[in-house]
Amino acid sequence: MKILLLAGDGIGAEIMVEARRVLDALALPGLTLTEGDVGGSAYKKHGHPLPPETLAKARVADAVLFGAVGDPDCDNLERHLRPEQAILGLRSELGLFANLRPATMFPGLEGMSGLRPEIARQIDVLIVRELNGDVYFGEKGMRTLEDGRRQGYDIMSYAEDEVRRIAHVAFRAAHGRTGRLCSVDKANVLETSQLWRDVVIETHAEYPDVELTHMYVDNAAMQLVKAPGQFDVVVTGNLFGDILSDQASMCVGSIGLLASASLGERQTDYGTFGLYEPIHGSAPDIAGTGKANPMAMILSLAMLLRHSLGLEAEAARIEAAVAKALEDGVRGGDLGGTAGTTEVADAVLARL
Ligand code: IPM
Ligand code: MG
Repeated sequence: MKILLLAGDGIGAEIMVEARRVLDALALPGLTLTEGDVGGSAYKKHGHPLPPETLAKARVADAVLFGAVGDPDCDNLERHLRPEQAILGLRSELGLFANLRPATMFPGLEGMSGLRPEIARQIDVLIVRELNGDVYFGEKGMRTLEDGRRQGYDIMSYAEDEVRRIAHVAFRAAHGRTGRLCSVDKANVLETSQLWRDVVIETHAEYPDVELTHMYVDNAAMQLVKAPGQFDVVVTGNLFGDILSDQASMCVGSIGLLASASLGERQTDYGTFGLYEPIHGSAPDIAGTGKANPMAMILSLAMLLRHSLGLEAEAARIEAAVAKALEDGVRGGDLGGTAGTTEVADAVLARL
């Protein structure tokens, strides 16, 4: 079982250390760990945020554990050299089109949510975000109009097969949960969304036991804070999924708690090849201070074990240890507490 560790920038390195300690504690036989450079740190070393050798390592791995990328030093570089291009490049080069972002309330944390506790308690949603298309990967550029005004543009588009494959992932996920799928789009305005909706409806024919609803993204943003309990699985495009998943994290209480899996079609000997990362960024403001909450990273490791290595029991053990630590009152700075990165990980390890 080969795992590639890509720590990246900012707090990425600190939280990766803790995920690795959790992995070590499981003492899994037959595990090989490799490391690679990615993001702003890779740019500084190799002149590119996603060096070819990193991509090559990812291609031969069974799974990639990813920290975070983003470095203010690199904000003025040409877009293709910015750290964020590393994660976008990995997602597209590796065909990781299905991004699973679960957001579930942890017992004891209701008071940390931006929502009233009785509403926060309801949240148990899986956001299935399409990750290889949409306005993220369409033609984009800057141009000067005839009258001299500058114009920036990014083309939004989805082809039907791109929608169909993510719809299948979402219907299957809904089938394995409470059987409700809500497709989020902006079909009242966007042609891209009209096609999205048509294809999701067509695909529904293969999943008669799943209840399908549709919601416009503006309404979905509102409903997510008004009555999050109405959602089970949400399927949506790349841009809307980016926004709604950050919003969902605040319903839970902290972005430092949400993990994600990005899956493609390639099967390994143990499961589906995937890349796993916390949904938060590199947090340059607290990098190096030992304050970052490693829980999202540790929970991403749990998702890796489940989806790519077929180790459900170990994944569940890690998730239970994190939940128990939170229930016992272990709180990092992001949750209004004082526990540092290592301390939070120690608490999880003790409960593992
Ligand atoms: C995410 C991030 C990325 C995205 C950035 C870092 C490119 O916000 O994974 O949600 O927009 O997809
Ligand atoms: Mg995001």
